[in-house]
Amino acid sequence: MSHEVLTENKDVSTKKRSLAEVTEPVKEDLKVFRKFFKEEIRSDVFILDQIINYLLRQKGKEIRPTLVFMTARMFGDVDMRSFIAATMIELLHTATLIHDDVVDEADKRRGFLSINKIWRNKAGVLLGDFLLSKGLLIALDNREYQLLHVLSDAVRLMSEGELRQMKTSNLFNMTEERYFQIISEKTASLISACCQCGAIAVTDDETVLEEMKEIGLQIGIAFQIKDDLFDYGLDDIGKPTRNDIKERKVTLPLIYALEKASKSEQLHIQRLMRKRKKSSKNIDDIVKFVHRNNGLKLAEEKMLSFSDSALKKLKSLPLLKGYDDFAALVDFIVTRKN
Ligand code: IPE
Ligand code: IPE
Ligand code: MG
Ligand code: MG
Repeated sequence: MSHEVLTENKDVSTKKRSLAEVTEPVKEDLKVFRKFFKEEIRSDVFILDQIINYLLRQKGKEIRPTLVFMTARMFGDVDMRSFIAATMIELLHTATLIHDDVVDEADKRRGFLSINKIWRNKAGVLLGDFLLSKGLLIALDNREYQLLHVLSDAVRLMSEGELRQMKTSNLFNMTEERYFQIISEKTASLISACCQCGAIAVTDDETVLEEMKEIGLQIGIAFQIKDDLFDYGLDDIGKPTRNDIKERKVTLPLIYALEKASKSEQLHIQRLMRKRKKSSKNIDDIVKFVHRNNGLKLAEEKMLSFSDSALKKLKSLPLLKGYDDFAALVDFIVTRKN
């Protein structure tokens, strides 16, 4: 009997959990958040409302609001401030996704045609601006100046990261160091802000705030490495794959594969990457090269070193509860299928 129980427990701890299972502890908080989000996003302008209705039909993973709530409950009780933070962050995230699809010329998002594909770039830029302003206004309306400061800073870093990436793909002088700087700015800054704001909402312990900022940064770096791995995979992830290659984005799997290759092969692959118009054979050659030279495996190991380090750091903080739930979320981030 006791043996059976043991085996059962083991099963639970090693089984990969679905998003629904991982978010279960903050399910009610997410419901409140969704209501807030819907209310904030409405507009009287007909065309805006039309696009927004389309937007609301496509569900994202809501990883950022989940991170806000998961952080808050480790140090206190989720309340209005956490809902404000979560709503602001998801609005800013949605705005940057819409802008990002314009920049990346991507035609698919969350399994649907992208906004720029249906309504063209102009509408994408303007809708993104609308959501961005809405996000920041929530903080002002509620006099949440600390949240406003942290999140405005994250938005600044995200824009700087996207611009730095654009410049780098033109110059083509990517290094591992530069890659980490870009992803820290364009993605990890907002994920870091989720953990920071979740903590701000419930505590003013400076050490906790600083540490959660750093933990969020590491989770965010792992998050973007995972996203960059998808581009080389075969699975349907609800958005285009091989787009990084088409857009001349050199990401970690390619950086590591290049380090392993001979000089002549390096030059050959770099020449292919630099082409603005690549044939499907060109793209296939690059993907095969990355697989052959262990780029995916090496990038995955690096990703796990960041997620492990984040959790180790978290363990040393004075938590009220919720470590295991937070760890399950981090595990989901690095094992997810989209
Ligand atoms: C996508 O983020 C953008 C990146 C930073 C890679 P998510 O994967 O969290 O997007 P949704 O919200 O679930 O669609
Ligand atoms: C994330 O990078 C960009 C943002 C900060 C929104 P990607 O360009 O790789 O994101 P996806 O793959 O389009 O979601
Ligand atoms: Mg993109
Ligand atoms: Mg991507």
